[in-house]
Amino acid sequence: MLCPEPGPEQHFTPPSCIVQRRGIFRMVVVHSHIIYDVVMDFAHALQDMFAAGTETTYIALEWAMSELMKNPAAMRRLQQEVRSAAGGIAKADALGAGTPYLKAVVKETLRLHPPVPLLLPRECMQDATVLGYHVAEGTRVFVNAWAINRDPGSWHAPDDFLPER
Ligand code: HEM
Repeated sequence: MLCPEPGPEQHFTPPSCIVQRRGIFRMVVVHSHIIYDVVMDFAHALQDMFAAGTETTYIALEWAMSELMKNPAAMRRLQQEVRSAAGGIAKADALGAGTPYLKAVVKETLRLHPPVPLLLPRECMQDATVLGYHVAEGTRVFVNAWAINRDPGSWHAPDDFLPER
């Protein structure tokens, strides 16, 4: 099964999808004139979704709690913000826009401790030059998000937990 060639203004065609056998799907996607033939096993895709959604979240929460324990001033400021925004512990689930410090604590935790430090692997689709290095087509590329997040050229005191930044 082949998808029609995309027109000049169209870079992505919706996947055409067929069920091969129980739980196994096969779809053809055209993106930027390249035809991808994707076979998907639904049971394993669901397993991946579950792992992607749970492991990352608990790792981030554990690091947030560890950083707050090491930084009592940040912990106190966050507690004050959360308690006054929630108006009592019973409403804590409804926290939203009125908690900028909470948002800053989460962002700073993810900066210092990204649960997926090398992101997902990429494959170079054409020869490229990055910072003077030749990257050949087909090379598997890992992006070191951990190093970017702690780059002293971009962050003041990169190893410190400073939600105020
Ligand atoms: C703190 C929480 C989370 C973190 C730090 C996180 C981190 C990431 C990262 C770094 C990627 C790879 C992005 C890339 O390299 O392009 C990713 C992809 C993905 N995440 Fe999360 N994630 C989190 C929560 C979740 C949740 C709650 C779900 C689902 C309920 C989820 C589902 C996915 C899926 C399906 C992908 C693949 C997306 C794609 O390839 O198009 N993640 N996540």
